[in-house]
Amino acid sequence: MTAAIYRCAILHCRNRQTVEFFSDGGLVVEGGRIRACGDFARIEPLFHGLPVVDWRGSVLIPGLVDTHAHLPQLPAIGAERADLLDWLRQVIFPLEARLRDTAFAERIADAFFRRALASGTTLVAVYAPPYEEATDACFRVAAQYGIRVVMGMTLMDSNAPAELLAEPSALIAASKRLINRWHRANDGRLFYALTPRFAGSCSRELLKQCGQLAAECSVHVQTHLAESPGELAWIASLFPEHPNYTSIYDHAGLLTERTILAHCIYLDRTELARIQEQGSAIAHCPASNVYLRSGIMPLSDYLELPLRIGLGTDIGAGFHASILDEARYAREVAKVRQMIHRSGSVPSLAEAFYLATLGGAEALGFADVLGNFSEGKEADFVRIAIEPYRTIDTAEHALEYVLYAGTQNVTATVIAGVEVWQSQ
Ligand code: GUN
Ligand code: ZN
Repeated sequence: MTAAIYRCAILHCRNRQTVEFFSDGGLVVEGGRIRACGDFARIEPLFHGLPVVDWRGSVLIPGLVDTHAHLPQLPAIGAERADLLDWLRQVIFPLEARLRDTAFAERIADAFFRRALASGTTLVAVYAPPYEEATDACFRVAAQYGIRVVMGMTLMDSNAPAELLAEPSALIAASKRLINRWHRANDGRLFYALTPRFAGSCSRELLKQCGQLAAECSVHVQTHLAESPGELAWIASLFPEHPNYTSIYDHAGLLTERTILAHCIYLDRTELARIQEQGSAIAHCPASNVYLRSGIMPLSDYLELPLRIGLGTDIGAGFHASILDEARYAREVAKVRQMIHRSGSVPSLAEAFYLATLGGAEALGFADVLGNFSEGKEADFVRIAIEPYRTIDTAEHALEYVLYAGTQNVTATVIAGVEVWQSQ
């Protein structure tokens, strides 16, 4: 396989605390993996003779990680309602029923993955349609684009229109077939996630069977938790035997090290402790949370805990596909929270960038193979053009630029050393 040195500015997180920046950097890629990363002047003599790809005037960052999005909801972006439950019933459930038409699902999948790559996303956790054939089509399209996904058919057996529901045994059988077809397929870029939508649309039996299958197959699990006040009250009335919302999933064996819990705005200490103990991850979706008037997750409090947290666009409650935008929202809503409550802190630029890259990789369980430019990791990266009137000499400059002007300047997205998207 080919090898090359990319010459440009380079920004990545060594770990949660440390950002590394090279204003004239060299990223050595060989066989789809990172061989070295550092100052160009130091790197070039060590790899003398390798072709140099001159990307000066750009900054390279690791591939972005979107830890939560709904593929079927792309056509509903902007269709706002009073709150989460109204929006689900009036907009989302009727839309998702239309994805029984596999050709329609395929068209949406095509736009969804193209838009993700155009935004610099190289790994995305996706809720696929609530139909097996349509989910198959989504995996096929993801494979064609070469994007990395953790994806599963959305499972529901209660409290939604009949055409979206099936018996637990049928849903589990379909999930098993999809796992057999797609889990670890396409050179290990596709991963299956059991996807019980949330306690509001899953019976105790379905949740229990999902927990059992997750233990048998070691696949990811994704669901929603503690998103909105109306949802919380409704779930409490559906599951009165549980002391809190988290306990419903815990009881079903759904809090695993491969579980991604979206939103988690309203959790008490016991719930947070249990999530930590089980090693499940949180997908923070600040744009969606404001859009649906759900609330503001106390991110800075959570960042002090040993919790794995990533960012999610939550399309279609989220109204854009960019994880850099989401990182910016995470800071801006934390400022609003601070202004209202006169307490709490705002995540630093470095923390927001970490959540968008390495933090997301950690949340989805892939930090050993991607998320930064450590030697041996997959060569997933994003090229961001530097506007000509901008000076970027320091890590701080680079963070400011990438987080606040990055999205509109993405010019190429690379996965395993291959350009999978570039601007015209
Ligand atoms: N809770 C249950 N389903 C959904 C969904 O599709 N979107 C969001 N934001 N929350 C949910
Ligand atoms: Zn969601």
